[in-house]
Amino acid sequence: RPVEPCSLVIFGASGDLTTRKLAPSLYNLYLSEALPESFVILGAARSEMSHEQFQGMIKHALEGMDLTRWDEFASHLYYKQMDLRSIDSFHELSSTLEKLEGKHGTRANRIFYLAIPPSAYGSVAAMLGKAGLSGEAGDGSAWSRLVVEKPFGHDLKSAQELDRQLHEYFNEYQIFRIDHYLAKETVQNVLIFRFANAIFEPLWNRMFIDRVRITAVESLGVEKRAAYYEEAGVLRDMFQNHMMQLLAVTAMEPPAVFEAEPVRDEHVKVFRSLRPIERDDPSKNLLLGQYGPGVVEGKRVPGYREEPGVKPDSFTPTFGMLKVFIDNWRWQDVPFYLTSGKRLAKKLTEIVIYFKNVPHLLFQKVLDEDIIANFLTLGIQPEEKINLTFETKYPGAKVCLRSVTMDFNYQQNYEGPILDAYEKALIDCMQGDQMLFWRQDSVELCWAFLDPVLQHCADCDNLSRLLLPYEAGSWGPDAAQVRIART
Ligand code: BG6
Repeated sequence: RPVEPCSLVIFGASGDLTTRKLAPSLYNLYLSEALPESFVILGAARSEMSHEQFQGMIKHALEGMDLTRWDEFASHLYYKQMDLRSIDSFHELSSTLEKLEGKHGTRANRIFYLAIPPSAYGSVAAMLGKAGLSGEAGDGSAWSRLVVEKPFGHDLKSAQELDRQLHEYFNEYQIFRIDHYLAKETVQNVLIFRFANAIFEPLWNRMFIDRVRITAVESLGVEKRAAYYEEAGVLRDMFQNHMMQLLAVTAMEPPAVFEAEPVRDEHVKVFRSLRPIERDDPSKNLLLGQYGPGVVEGKRVPGYREEPGVKPDSFTPTFGMLKVFIDNWRWQDVPFYLTSGKRLAKKLTEIVIYFKNVPHLLFQKVLDEDIIANFLTLGIQPEEKINLTFETKYPGAKVCLRSVTMDFNYQQNYEGPILDAYEKALIDCMQGDQMLFWRQDSVELCWAFLDPVLQHCADCDNLSRLLLPYEAGSWGPDAAQVRIART
């Protein structure tokens, strides 16, 4: 699809997301000539700032990047001070946009990116609608899109309410719910690996696969986001969204065609097949933890309860391990172990497929070691790789086995930078391709799956029983390590 001329309005332009993710991604897209020839980036926020000051702020966010083309890029950047509660402010936005569109020839194609607290999503969407900014030209010559970041609500009910608010003025095809995990190059590659190769898919089921481990852990702590994280915890922050999407790409059926709706239909089928977690005793399938002080990558760090903004008696989980089953023909009784946590030994995101053992232990009499079943690792980050581990004979007169790994590494095999997830998401949104964005039915199914656990955890007594301490810099609570070792 062509990337059409457009204006990108970023609400919350002086915030963290804009400087940390959006600005570098947009500039990178500019450098690689992926942005349309005519485009406008209009930052909007409460603070008073001139265009030049806004440009200075964005330039500062690009530290370390090649700035040879900065001046050209900066000529597309504008700023508008706004009061997001005032309709007049949105009417002014509308005329500012018209002027800029005339100047840059971007037509009335508009993307409204809500880099603001989720509690304001509904009202800003409504203001846009009331100011006539959500409409589209009937002949398709101009479009309007709304980008929202997770969390999409904090439970099923609030997610439905948020959706109702967004839909008051926007249609589903105009709403882009970002999950930057889906836009990661190696997450997309899971589908290519599965469906562009004939040799793995016949094995990709309960007949040959023993279990699947999906891990997304990080060494970072809660950083400056305590206010949000205290409410969210790891289940809302990582499981309801990123972990579920990793699960979907691993477990889904091949879509009939590689297009947004058929692909997202397959995600939905996975979520619809999730076996409900036992309401009364989720502890059989769930393990939660909270980090204490420790040493991470050589640096002493405080425990979660000592982080600024965190309650000293907080029960917010920073680690979770969830055993999930997908009740369908392909996956019946194959456990999927989802693990995510903060302040662990290192950053690691990977999907590991453990195949079944050989049916007959032919070598057992001559071996004094076990045969290790094959496993396939799809490394998402920091190393982007695909590894297949299998047994070989170690040279010598005696029969000895050795596990070896066949590996493919993205960086070593492909030249040029890998597109960052936000770059991919921004470009897809400009092209109107929703494949890598959440659809509301998926959002609701995932909340419906997690809600009983969240309700169970909302009771402090339950949570204090479930929550296990772990040392920052370790691999999580001891019990989790035992379970991981067993998987
Ligand atoms: C975000 C979570 O969505 O994903 C963060 O809110 C987490 O808590 C981050 O650190 C992880 O993303 P990535 O791309 O660094 O693995």
